[in-house]
Amino acid sequence: MTLTWLDPERLALLRCPKTGGALTVEGDALVTADGARRWPSRHGLACLYEDEQVVGNDRLMRTIYNSLPALHDPATRVLTPIMQGISEHGIRRGFLPRLELERLSPRSDRPIRILEVGIGGGANLPYLQRALPPGLPVEIWGVDLSHGMLKQCQRRLERQSLPPTCLMMVDAHELPFVDGAFDRVFHVGAIGNYSHPDRALAEMARVAQPGSPIVVVDEELDLSQRQSLYYRLWFKALTFYDDQPHAPVAALPPSAQDIRLTHLSRFYYCMSFRVPV
Ligand SMILES: C[S@@+](CC[C@H](N)C(=O)[O-])C[C@H]1O[C@@H](n2cnc3c(N)ncnc32)[C@H](O)[C@@H]1O
Repeated sequence: MTLTWLDPERLALLRCPKTGGALTVEGDALVTADGARRWPSRHGLACLYEDEQVVGNDRLMRTIYNSLPALHDPATRVLTPIMQGISEHGIRRGFLPRLELERLSPRSDRPIRILEVGIGGGANLPYLQRALPPGLPVEIWGVDLSHGMLKQCQRRLERQSLPPTCLMMVDAHELPFVDGAFDRVFHVGAIGNYSHPDRALAEMARVAQPGSPIVVVDEELDLSQRQSLYYRLWFKALTFYDDQPHAPVAALPPSAQDIRLTHLSRFYYCMSFRVPV
């Protein structure tokens, strides 16, 4: 049984990505109340996207991530200093303050909920854990298109003592969660390859608690620094799928406020915003 972790409280967070209706568990599938939509688990994971909707770069990236899931995290660790002259730690530690985790306080009705869109192998989880206020009851949700990367994340969760984390196969363009479900929402490292960054940003904004910071990190060459041919070639190789990798400020929802854009490293921007209460 793959869905035993979906207790009624967690189930109440979910909604059918197509109809918006509530979901119930039937064996290894999630089903709408009227039975019209059925979402069978795949690869032992809850799955809430249709295969046919994954097209273009999204499909290419899913194939790449599914082919080499065990390589992603070690390659990032080794290659980041070679490519950018900064450690992976430096970049991951750099975006955490923007999540304002220190402002979170315990709730009486439920744990604090944090969503990572495109969680991959879960490399951000130890950083989150260290940055959270000690003793705060937290539940992390991680969604990703790639079952290979989610399996890597499951292995990490088995090996390391990390906060409770719920993993699901989901397309960032259609998050299967009710409005305002999460106290914090963040994304690291893929929105530049999404078919519709505007839709993904609107979805992140919808499922975040109004007023909470939403943090997005991805590739853009920092032109305020001198970028030699060496760095430009690495950047081109890293972003081969995109003609003009850039922070998608223009794709933010019209209601976005408190928009901040900075660079964490030569190749990575950090964009944060909120939607009003
Ligand atoms: C570069 S990895 C980053 C993983 C993790 N966030 C990290 O910081 O290590 C990008 C992840 O985004 C996932 N991804 C790509 N397109 C996606 C989409 N449309 N919806 C959900 N996940 C997606 C990939 O499968 C991959 O696991």
